[in-house]
Amino acid sequence: MQRLSRKLKAENKSIGFVPTMGFLHEGHISLVKKSKQKSNVTVVSIFVNPAQFAPNEDFKKYPRDLRHDKNLLKTIGTDYLFIPEVSEVYQTNYQTFVEVDEISRILEGEFRPFHFKGVATILSILFNCVLPDYTFFGQKDAQQVAVIRQMIKDLKFTTEIIACPIVREKDGLAMSSRNIYLSINERSDALVLFKALKLAEKLVMEGERLADIIISKMINEINSIDSSKIDYVRIVDVDKFSQVDSLISGSRYYFLIACKIGNTRLIDNVIIKVS
Ligand code: PAJ
Repeated sequence: MQRLSRKLKAENKSIGFVPTMGFLHEGHISLVKKSKQKSNVTVVSIFVNPAQFAPNEDFKKYPRDLRHDKNLLKTIGTDYLFIPEVSEVYQTNYQTFVEVDEISRILEGEFRPFHFKGVATILSILFNCVLPDYTFFGQKDAQQVAVIRQMIKDLKFTTEIIACPIVREKDGLAMSSRNIYLSINERSDALVLFKALKLAEKLVMEGERLADIIISKMINEINSIDSSKIDYVRIVDVDKFSQVDSLISGSRYYFLIACKIGNTRLIDNVIIKVS
């Protein structure tokens, strides 16, 4: 991969990179489309990264369908698909990990303490293989984008990070490879995440500025669904990812939800600009 990327660079071609764990859907495809617009060559990687799953998480049963992924990428036209093996990425006696401190410990980090260490490590490895000029991420994983921006800045990686909007199903459910785990009933229950975010938007529009009040109404909405179990509902400053007590006019905030529906853990968020 590195040899190929060096060759492309020698030909003065810009490389756009879309890292994924496969089982691709329209959310992933939107990133590939952005990359194709912005770069001369687009590389997609598929690697279900064991280092970002805790032992009790779904690494083994994470959905995989390489044939479907390849067809989808062929249809929209992808230049290169990089599918390394776990044993190639993490060779025997592998020892090096990348930790992004503060921002990895809050929110997702409270519930998945080693998750971002795995993400930062695999992305460092992939950046060194693909040598991308641009790397495309979904805003769906807002904290992931923030962690990687911090890592790029701290470790002086040269790729530019481009964050793209969340792609949703028609009824509002954020697309995710994990949606496949949902039963029919859970699929409709899962809409409550989107409903709670919409409720927050409405409350802000009506003039509510106290984070606690908005959050408790969002929590009530989510708790009205029996199959739901909330990890967190938070409002954070878009730039620093720090929690806020009240919303200030002119500022932008992430409203973030992590919640289990049955056994499936889902995350969703929206950016709200306060007028
Ligand atoms: P994965 O969950 O496969 O997601 C790959 C990329 O697709 C991420 O940047 C994610 O934010 C984006 N994405 C997922 N659902 C989306 C949606 N509904 N709309 C827009 N973008 C969406 O995130 C990972 O893999 C891994 O952590 C990875 C970065 C590959 C490192 O292993």
